Amino acid sequence: MKILITGSNGMLGHDLIKVLEENNELILTTSKTFDITDKKQTMDYICDTKPDIVINSAAYTDVDGCEQNQDLAYAVNGDGVRNLALACREIDCPLVHISTDYVFDGSARDPIAEDGEIGPISVYGKSKLKGEEAILEILDKYFIVRTAWLYGINGRNFPKTMLELAQNHSEITVVYDEVGTPTYTPDLAYGISQLIETDYYGTYHLTNSGSCSWCEFARYIFEIADKDVKVIPVTASEFARPAPRPSYSVLNNKQWVENGFKPLRNYKEAIKEYIELIK
Ligand SMILES: NC(=O)c1ccc[n+]([C@@H]2O[C@H](COP(=O)([O-])OP(=O)(O)OC[C@H]3O[C@@H](n4cnc5c(N)ncnc54)[C@H](OP(=O)(O)O)[C@@H]3O)[C@@H](O)[C@H]2O)c1
Repeated sequence: MKILITGSNGMLGHDLIKVLEENNELILTTSKTFDITDKKQTMDYICDTKPDIVINSAAYTDVDGCEQNQDLAYAVNGDGVRNLALACREIDCPLVHISTDYVFDGSARDPIAEDGEIGPISVYGKSKLKGEEAILEILDKYFIVRTAWLYGINGRNFPKTMLELAQNHSEITVVYDEVGTPTYTPDLAYGISQLIETDYYGTYHLTNSGSCSWCEFARYIFEIADKDVKVIPVTASEFARPAPRPSYSVLNNKQWVENGFKPLRNYKEAIKEYIELIK
């Protein structure tokens, strides 16, 4: 397949390339070569290259930065996705779009299925929802893949920050009242590679299995990395950040399983592999 990947320099983009490059022809783009906020460039680029499928892993992902730079957040995560959807419709090619657990408000107490009630509480979540809405309005052939708490080799992420802090801290405060599912980008990329072999279009939740709070995740990271760091639990309100986060955003991978795909492995197995790789 000829696959166009936007955001190919990003954390997920890096692993999409690794998973897809062997059996596919990849067209790799970055914000320098192809800015998705430019409507004309997006239409021209996609119409000229004529991919069989587009995977959009480009986004403005700085959750706190989105609060300060709202116009940019909506331009990239909303209008940029609309531009991609319009161009995909023009050449009748499916669009895979990566969205987020932050479209939910955190009030659920059980894993949230794809049709769970939406209610983003941050600019990031609201801007990502705009992107989803544009796709639903414009395209029939789409995969919207909501995922959560990503980490991987190529990018800043929570496990990396914890291990950096462990180098010169014996105590770290970590939020305990936000619960979700850490998801390893190679596992997500593999899932996407399976999905695009099908025409089971629609909205999916796709994360590793299991769930934890950030605090539990930090403790587990230090345990398997053999670091003697005391993790002090704090509430999200004590650990003030510009953007509010949902207190609970565990995603039930319902559509994924119902369509016959194997659940992704438990987050504990995945983080073990990651730490082995980076230590
Ligand atoms: N990280 C998480 O915890 C998380 C959780 C849930 C969902 N997601 C979603 O998963 C997807 C991948 O996330 P990630 O963490 O891999 O993101 P990332 O590492 O921040 O990469 C995003 C990429 O988007 C590109 N980009 C930004 N603005 C652009 C524009 N105007 N035109 C074209 N490209 C642009 C950037 O490209 P350049 O480097 O070339 O500027 C960057 O490499 C995103 O949709 C994100 O919303 C992430």
